Amino acid sequence: MRYDADALARHFADGPGDVSLADVDMARLPSHISIIMDGNGRWAEARGMERPYGHMAGVDSLRETITTCVRLGIDALSAYAFSTENWKRPQREVDMLMHLFATTLVNELPLFVQENVRLVFLGDLEALPRETREVFEEGLAKTASHTGMVLALAVNYGSRAEIARACRLVAADVAAGRMDPGSVDEFAVAERLYTAGLSDPELLIRTSGELRLSNFLLWQLAYAEFYVTPVLWPDFDRWELLRAVASFQGRERRFGGVVQG
Ligand code: IPE
Ligand code: IPE
Ligand code: MG
Repeated sequence: MRYDADALARHFADGPGDVSLADVDMARLPSHISIIMDGNGRWAEARGMERPYGHMAGVDSLRETITTCVRLGIDALSAYAFSTENWKRPQREVDMLMHLFATTLVNELPLFVQENVRLVFLGDLEALPRETREVFEEGLAKTASHTGMVLALAVNYGSRAEIARACRLVAADVAAGRMDPGSVDEFAVAERLYTAGLSDPELLIRTSGELRLSNFLLWQLAYAEFYVTPVLWPDFDRWELLRAVASFQGRERRFGGVVQG
């Protein structure tokens, strides 16, 4: 996607010194970046605060990351906000998160309009509280015609549930005679995932140092490059994103083949 060089240079002015815009090759950016936004609870606890404060601080990191990806001209950013397993958390924390998702989207919608960001959701929105679902639906409707970066928010998302759902959709098409079982291939599955129409992520970032996927995009991340940082999500900023991209660009991606010469 195209980017505005002046706006980009302003965005990355006054860096921390160890990394700058010059460290990344603008011609080889990942087109889709995925982030597992982790460590909010630990960030709050380290400050003697309750976990919800970490989630609130995490909103600022997401806004900065969205703006940074737009400035870089990234095509798609996907972010894991709430997993199908996160319902196991204390009810108070779950309620707080659902309310935070709704209020955040209301507050950030003008930014998405200004930056031409198209919002999509990954996950089953049916199970969300009505307030949250209604705001999400409004966000979808208001950004549907946007042609800029796609922001895919994973909420009530679980990759195994997503793949099982795709299997059900394939089975229904086969049972109805719309599809021949022998024609079920990778594309047939991929186009029934929540990410249909999005390219696979090329770079996966996980904050807070955890070395696991936690049921995120198991299918789509097949050949993604992983970047795990000890930085907790509320401390993640544009410079850490640049470090991740610079690391990505230093990798040799083979896709199962052999790199010649
Ligand atoms: C990530 O931070 C946000 C969500 C899962 C909603 P955590 O809440 O998992 O923070 P830690 O991992 O407990 O520090
Ligand atoms: C993954 O983080 C889910 C999100 C970031 C939304 P978790 O904190 O839920 O993952 P685990 O429990 O450490 O695997
Ligand atoms: Mg966590």
